[in-house]
Amino acid sequence: MADLSVNIAGVRFKNPVVTASGTFGFGREFSQVYDLSKLGGIACKGITLKPRDGNPPPRIAETPSGILNSVGLQNPGVDWFVKHEVPWLKKYDTVIIANVAGNEIADYCEVVERLNESQVDMIELNISCPNVKQGGVAFGTSAKAAGEITKAVRNVCKKPLAVKLSPNVANIGDIAAAVESEGADAVSLINTITGMRIDINTRRPILTNNTGGLSGPAVFPIAVRMVYEVSRRVTIPVIGMGGIATWQDAVEIMLAGACLVQVGTANFTDPYAPLKIIEGIEQYLDQNVISSVTEIVGKVQIYE
Ligand code: FUM
Repeated sequence: MADLSVNIAGVRFKNPVVTASGTFGFGREFSQVYDLSKLGGIACKGITLKPRDGNPPPRIAETPSGILNSVGLQNPGVDWFVKHEVPWLKKYDTVIIANVAGNEIADYCEVVERLNESQVDMIELNISCPNVKQGGVAFGTSAKAAGEITKAVRNVCKKPLAVKLSPNVANIGDIAAAVESEGADAVSLINTITGMRIDINTRRPILTNNTGGLSGPAVFPIAVRMVYEVSRRVTIPVIGMGGIATWQDAVEIMLAGACLVQVGTANFTDPYAPLKIIEGIEQYLDQNVISSVTEIVGKVQIYE
């Protein structure tokens, strides 16, 4: 049987499939469906310094082959997360990734300092949420701002640090290079792509936030292209996500350069999707006589 394990910055994932932030809560609902220990890891819903109610509804709109969301970082705040969610998640044998968001650099640093003393295994710095008026993607759309926040957080962060990048930029490779040079241990991409829907009868946007982030299979080819570009610009590991719904998608984005994948929107239509993807990757490796999943990373054969 092929070895599915992946190591990123000293953190061992038993397989390369992680559930993506914002699509899996803190795992409680999904734990009623299957054993969370089967997952490589869980990236938790974005956590901020103070609790947030998020944006007013409607904040989800269906689109062809995807969804638009403008949740607005609803979460119970870092203190609740550390006290209630992390100890509960620790019952499971899986990697816990805390996704960290904020309005200002100081907020991000404060959240990370509180997480330093917790049992989370890795931090995912969210500089790519498109649905908040302050912070979020504002840090992720220029190499300078992305570098500055990474530097500040790196200075206080005692855990392995991944930075989650936005696709809403002209050159994602430049942003990835900036965060790598300021000490990120990994990059994860892509977060959602900003979109908009309008109700033709009311002439009002469907989302109260007017715009939202597009995810799901519609964005998958963009994710593959960006993972490919970023993996050629940086030497740190690339975590790939964006519309992955099947094991074939997972293998494809790994061939593009991802060493780990996150499964997001697919959880809404099929809660078992991550488990099916793990099983499918294993069968693909065995059928192709590949002994370790790491052997396929970045192995796309590009036309010259
Ligand atoms: O609106 C939201 O909570 C989305 C967060 C994100 O895209 O990171």
